[in-house]
Amino acid sequence: MIIILLGPPGCGKGTQAERLQESYGLVQLSTGDMLRAAVASGSDVGNKAKAIMEAGELVPDDVIIAMIAERIGAANGGNGFILDGFPRTQAQAEALDRMLEETDLKLDRVIRFEVDEDALIERITGRFSCASCGVGYHDKFKRPREDGVCDACGGREFSRRDDDKAETVAARLKAYHEQTAPILPYYQAQGRLAAVDGMAAIDDVTGQLKSLLGGV
Ligand code: AP5
Repeated sequence: MIIILLGPPGCGKGTQAERLQESYGLVQLSTGDMLRAAVASGSDVGNKAKAIMEAGELVPDDVIIAMIAERIGAANGGNGFILDGFPRTQAQAEALDRMLEETDLKLDRVIRFEVDEDALIERITGRFSCASCGVGYHDKFKRPREDGVCDACGGREFSRRDDDKAETVAARLKAYHEQTAPILPYYQAQGRLAAVDGMAAIDDVTGQLKSLLGGV
């Protein structure tokens, strides 16, 4: 199964991709996570991407397409994958179609998260994650069971993303509207587009996704 989760920053793509990967045995391919790993490692790609990400803009298509092509090749052969944060431009969407065609793979669904954008700032600025295992939390919506201790690994250090400041979120939303939302009609025309209510509770959104994808 190959699915794309599509929606503005903070709509819940990463949260739901983590859950679907467990339930369906899929590999989560998050271009945002790949880029953050590249920045942390100080690689050429990371150095090129750092300032762009901190400004809330999109990293150039050629960099992203090369990065995802490598990961799709490596993920091929399993149960499939969830694309989280890719594609984000028309050029990326068309490149993905070519990559899938070349590897004899088929895109099943593109799932759009419908959200009230006023709520996204609160979601994004309240987000943090475990510095050891990367599991995500939120100050209000998803706190660890014990304050200051990661539920998954017991880690006691947490971090926040550099681009999760309120001023950067506005630029990220602008990039979504100008460059990413325009690819929705492309998938609508292919008959692959479906939607979930991203304002529902996290468990409810997972339920909606499972209804769309078939129960497990
Ligand atoms: P990326 O990492 O992809 O960030 P994003 O798309 O802005 O998405 P987020 O990770 O912020 O949000 P999300 O939708 O995953 O929400 P989450 O589940 O975390 O990209 C970062 C940057 O990298 C980009 O700005 C760009 O520069 C670059 N980049 C990446 N891909 C690129 C590409 N393809 N091309 C070019 N550049 C690229 O949820 C957010 C919070 O809300 C969490 O705390 C969560 O607990 C909470 N939450 C989630 N769902 C709910 C709910 N239903 N109710 C209440 N709270 C909820």
